[in-house]
Amino acid sequence: MAILEILTYPNKFLSQPTKPVTDIDEEIRNLIEDMAATMYEEPGIGLAAIQVGYDKSLLVYDVSPRDEERSLQVLINPRIVSSEGTTISEDEGCLSVPDFKADVKRAASILVEALGREGKPLRIEAEGLLAIVLQHEIDHLNGILFIDRISSLKRQMYKRRVKKNLKK
Ligand code: NI
Repeated sequence: MAILEILTYPNKFLSQPTKPVTDIDEEIRNLIEDMAATMYEEPGIGLAAIQVGYDKSLLVYDVSPRDEERSLQVLINPRIVSSEGTTISEDEGCLSVPDFKADVKRAASILVEALGREGKPLRIEAEGLLAIVLQHEIDHLNGILFIDRISSLKRQMYKRRVKKNLKK
C-alpha cells in the first residue's frame, strides 16, 4: 500500500471527465488499496481516483463516525440516476482545494447506481452526509470541483488567494 500524492487546484488534470473502468484488474485493485490508505491518512471521508492522478471513474468513501470502526466503501463507474429536493451542504471542503470551505447547494437525496469493489451492481439511496459526499465525489469524476458550484464572487476570492500563494 502506498500513500498517493493528491493533486490540488489549479491542476488542470482535475477538471477533465474520467473514463469508465472496464476491467477490475490488479492495477485497479491496487489503486483502490492506495486510495483508501491515502484517504485515511489525510484524513478525508471521500476520495476520487482523479485526485490522485488516475482518470478513472472510481471513488472510495467512509462516512462512519471517527470513533467507530472503519467501513470502506468503493464505487466503480457511479452515476446519479435521480435526485430530489435541495439542501445546503455547510462548510464543504475538499482535499484538492486546501484551506478553503464554502456552503454548497446540493440535492437532498439521490439514487446512485454503480459497481461495487468486486464488480457487482449496486443501488444506493442516500440522504444527509452520504448524499453530499457522493455528489461531491461523483462531481470529481465529471471534472467538477465544489468551487465550481459556489458563487462566482466567492470563487474569485479563492482563486486570487491561490494565485498569490503560487507567486510566493
Ligand atoms: Ni473533493
